[in-house]
Amino acid sequence: MKSIVVLISGNGSNLQAIIDQIDNEKINGKIVAVISNIDGVYGLQRAEQAGINNLVVSHKDYASREEYDTALLANIERFSPDLIVLAGFMRILTPYFVNSFTGKMLNVHPSLLPKYKGLNTHQRAIDDDEPEHGASIHFVSPELDGGPVILQAKVPVFPEDSATDLAARVQEQERQIYPMVVKWFCEDRLSMQNGKAYLDNEVIGDNGYAAN
Ligand code: GAR
Repeated sequence: MKSIVVLISGNGSNLQAIIDQIDNEKINGKIVAVISNIDGVYGLQRAEQAGINNLVVSHKDYASREEYDTALLANIERFSPDLIVLAGFMRILTPYFVNSFTGKMLNVHPSLLPKYKGLNTHQRAIDDDEPEHGASIHFVSPELDGGPVILQAKVPVFPEDSATDLAARVQEQERQIYPMVVKWFCEDRLSMQNGKAYLDNEVIGDNGYAAN
């Protein structure tokens, strides 16, 4: 069984979706720790309620990004995880940190990558009159939101949408696709080789498995 460390900064709805699929025995894994960079967030309560080890490693306690990432790395390595799941972890990570977990770290990003890397993705999609938007699950590489995509989910953008409406629609999809990708990883079906994502030893296209 794979051991998983989940990093969060907030609500933790993606964390909850993964907890639920583990509880339903759909994912052959165990979350050994949930780590937040922000104290008091709801995701920590979700971990507590599920009986999962949870801790805060606050970026405010460190003078630089490098020092923070060194401390975060040490805290993660205590649990010797097979997989690191970034689930709404709102920090830019140093190459040193990312390169310590090559092929072992997943992220969910709220856009159809490579579109809309970075922040405020929902408002940017609305401002550009995009007909569709969505979420991507990808392996993490040192380039921000730049690692190979594994799976995407698309949603329509309606003319009357606010960024909040669109975020809710996208997050509903995230909660479907993130547990599925974690499941694949835990079954040893997923890997990253030479900067490409593979499922069942077949390379995944740029827009993820099942792109149409
Ligand atoms: C999710 O929508 C995720 O895509 C986004 O934060 C939200 C966290 O929700 N992540 C990023 O923007 C990463 N750059 P959650 O805490 O309820 O899982």
